[in-house]
Amino acid sequence: MRLESKFEGRRRIFPSGILARARGIACLGAIGMLLAGCRLDMQRSERPVVPGTVARGHLHLDELLYTGKENGVLADKFPFPITRADLERGRERYNIYCTPCHDYTGGGHGMIVQRGFPPPPSFHIDRLRTAPAGHFFDVMTNGDGSMYSYATRVEPEDRWRIAAYIRALQLSHQATIQDVPGAMRRKLMEENSAEQIR
Ligand code: HEC
Repeated sequence: MRLESKFEGRRRIFPSGILARARGIACLGAIGMLLAGCRLDMQRSERPVVPGTVARGHLHLDELLYTGKENGVLADKFPFPITRADLERGRERYNIYCTPCHDYTGGGHGMIVQRGFPPPPSFHIDRLRTAPAGHFFDVMTNGDGSMYSYATRVEPEDRWRIAAYIRALQLSHQATIQDVPGAMRRKLMEENSAEQIR
């Protein structure tokens, strides 16, 4: 009898209508949070691009940016102008992600290779020196033989910056003292002869 009256009392304090509304509000809140999560996801720039699809309005540029190709052919150009800052970012990313196998010079003798991983080709062989920039983007995006894809770890813009840095590494291997601007050439030669005297 006492229990019953206690129960009755509760019913009066929380009529079923209020309970239902509270449940409804909690539910809406949950849906709202889900939607907010969804929206955040849509805004993220590194959101993976579904292969074979491109955003509307920039068909040409997006094909190059996300596949390294133009009209289905690997392109020898970059989807945005490469600045010094892009090259520096490319060097930083290259040093993090690629040197374990490709080493700091691109010779293909990184630490993991020295411990038995199949050696990659040097970036300084003719085939890779003459390969279009899009090839490097493509290899990072889709992997190649025993090299796995970097698509989930390196966003597309950074893959291009790495490709640009590899181009710089390749050029630096071919460069002669004549390619160095005058003032820097003198400094370099001074340093070099100081080195030889030591
Ligand atoms: C765990 C080792 C490893 C890492 C790290 C790695 N690679 Fe490779 N890479 C390889 C191997 C091995 C090959 C040769 C694949 C084959 O021919 O089977 C290769 C091949 C390549 C090639 C040449 C493809 C061709 O045409 O022969 C390029 C370009 C390349 N890698 C770029 C990169 C870049 C850029 C990164 C960093 C984002 C990277 N790799 C990170 C192991 C690695």
